[in-house]
Amino acid sequence: MVMELTRNLHIVLLIGVVCVVQAIAVICPYSDLICSCDSEILCYGLQQIPPLITGDNVGKFTYLTFQVGNITNIPSNSLPPGLTLIELSSHPISSIADDAFDSSADTLETFTIKESHLTSLPTALKKLSKLIRLFIDDTPIQVWDTATLKQIAPTVENLALRNVSLSTWPSWISDFNSLLTLDLSGNPLNAIPDDAFNSLKESVTVLELRNTGLTHVPQALSTLSSLISLDLRNNNFTDVSEIERIAGSPFARNLTDLFLDSSGLTGAANLTNLTSLKVIGLSNNRISDVAAGSLPRSLIALYLSNNSLSSVPQDVAFLNSLTDLYLSNNRIKEIEPTSFPSSLVYLDLHFNNLTVITNTTFTHLSLLEHLLLNFNPISTIEPAAFSDLVSLQQLSLIETHLTEIPLAFSLLSPQTDLSITTTQPFSCPCPAPRELVEWYSSRALFSTIHLYCSSGQLIDSYLSGQCR
Ligand SMILES: *[C@@H]1O[C@H](CO)[C@@H](O)[C@H](O)[C@H]1NC(C)=O
Ligand SMILES: *[C@@H]1O[C@H](CO)[C@@H](O)[C@H](O)[C@H]1NC(C)=O
Ligand SMILES: *[C@@H]1O[C@H](CO)[C@@H](O)[C@H](O)[C@H]1NC(C)=O
Ligand SMILES: *[C@@H]1O[C@H](CO)[C@@H](O)[C@H](O)[C@H]1NC(C)=O
Ligand SMILES: *[C@@H]1O[C@H](CO)[C@@H](O)[C@H](O)[C@H]1NC(C)=O
Ligand SMILES: *[C@@H]1O[C@H](CO)[C@@H](O)[C@H](O)[C@H]1NC(C)=O
Ligand SMILES: *[C@@H]1O[C@H](CO)[C@@H](O)[C@H](O)[C@H]1NC(C)=O
Ligand SMILES: *[C@@H]1O[C@H](CO)[C@@H](O)[C@H](O)[C@H]1NC(C)=O
Ligand SMILES: *[C@@H]1O[C@H](CO)[C@@H](O)[C@H](O)[C@H]1NC(C)=O
Repeated sequence: MVMELTRNLHIVLLIGVVCVVQAIAVICPYSDLICSCDSEILCYGLQQIPPLITGDNVGKFTYLTFQVGNITNIPSNSLPPGLTLIELSSHPISSIADDAFDSSADTLETFTIKESHLTSLPTALKKLSKLIRLFIDDTPIQVWDTATLKQIAPTVENLALRNVSLSTWPSWISDFNSLLTLDLSGNPLNAIPDDAFNSLKESVTVLELRNTGLTHVPQALSTLSSLISLDLRNNNFTDVSEIERIAGSPFARNLTDLFLDSSGLTGAANLTNLTSLKVIGLSNNRISDVAAGSLPRSLIALYLSNNSLSSVPQDVAFLNSLTDLYLSNNRIKEIEPTSFPSSLVYLDLHFNNLTVITNTTFTHLSLLEHLLLNFNPISTIEPAAFSDLVSLQQLSLIETHLTEIPLAFSLLSPQTDLSITTTQPFSCPCPAPRELVEWYSSRALFSTIHLYCSSGQLIDSYLSGQCR
């Protein structure tokens, strides 16, 4: 008890001392006005690194960020000591002195450089003994110094080398045997050797290979055992059956996220073995059919926008954890009753070919909050179409072919946010149905509809019960 009290007292005293010190002095290591030193050093628009101020009254900062500017060179002794994070974004940096990071050699954990003009990996990195995260983006690196790579590899857990001109698989990746996440997106790798992951196979949990020119699903994936997220977007897979390599891999039961958007797929493979899969991205492909029994029941989000589907895939009805379903930009003409699971919260059907919303299209969707039906040639919405949508917050019906205000609106909560336009004016037969007038008056507090009847009357006045 006494120990506890003295300890607390010490803490209070310490806080007191820190406050006093801050009140007297703490100054920024750079006097330049474009640098702020609140909890970290953050500079915008530097033309070069300002002179470094040292001394007892200079604050100790651990984060340093130089955002967009014109720095071309990081000279010796230009950075404050003891940094744990350095981020250099959008500066035409073409040289970094070999000893530039020496004063943070034993502290630096995160190094990020984006949109620089470096053509070789900075050898200054070699001295960093604690480097955990290395992120290089949009930099045309031609020379990858293997001595530097070997030196830093053992401690690095998160490595992202995006759009850095790698045109073949970097064999030195095998030295990074503590990697948890690896992102090589935006490099024209084109192919990945079968043994590429041999020394990483147990550690890597997140692998991103977006836009890497792949035409085959890498066989090398089947050596990975701990993967939970795999991103293969923006490639061009010519053989759909190769996708089943993913379902047959050692990590199949642990994968939670899989992205195969924009990858030239003409069909969906059998993915039922991915029994932990929560999110799958299949947008921007040419999928016309998803065979029943292909999708795992664990899914919570399914992205199938911009494909060639003519109906809602049969499996969808059985995905009873699914909350988010994206089916926009397809060719869906009709929706069978009970096509959707009652777990749905977000349903996007815009740019399809729906003409009728029936009493049964959206039955049981009592959790649905967002329903997007824009740009469908919908001319009929049956009166009970929205009767189960008790949670609906947003209904979008932009550019439909409706000719009257549907009676079904009277079943919507007054708070539902409604967006509606049609390709031709509403006919507004008078008097307006009593249910619609009552519904509209209950909405008055929330919002009005700013549209016109073909007679020129405002919908607002028509739904307020006035005839003209
Ligand atoms: C960098 O320098 C060039 C030429 O001196 C100038 O046009 C440009 O505005 C500068 N950019 C920034 C972000 O300061
Ligand atoms: C890739 O990086 C280069 C600079 O090396 C840049 O000009 C280009 O815009 C980047 N590409 C993408 C897709 O960001
Ligand atoms: C899969 O996940 C479970 C629990 O999340 C874990 O115990 C198991 O080791 C993982 N399997 C692999 C192959 O990583
Ligand atoms: C994908 O590959 C196919 C077959 O090799 C080719 O015809 C097509 O143009 C490629 N598509 C893209 C977007 O590169
Ligand atoms: C699913 O996994 C089993 C073994 O667990 C395997 O025999 C089967 O081929 C796999 N099916 C698919 C479609 O990957
Ligand atoms: C739809 O997907 C195709 C590839 O299949 C792509 O070229 C196109 O840009 C996508 N359209 C939209 C609106 O995303
Ligand atoms: C998919 O694979 C599972 C397990 O291997 C199997 O039970 C199921 O019938 C397959 N589905 C299809 C559509 O082939
Ligand atoms: C939508 O349906 C109309 C009429 O049936 C048809 O002419 C049109 O081609 C269809 N559009 C698509 C994208 O399937
Ligand atoms: C839809 O439901 C309404 C109200 O319950 C009913 O009057 C109408 O006949 C139904 N329409 C069809 C096509 O079943």
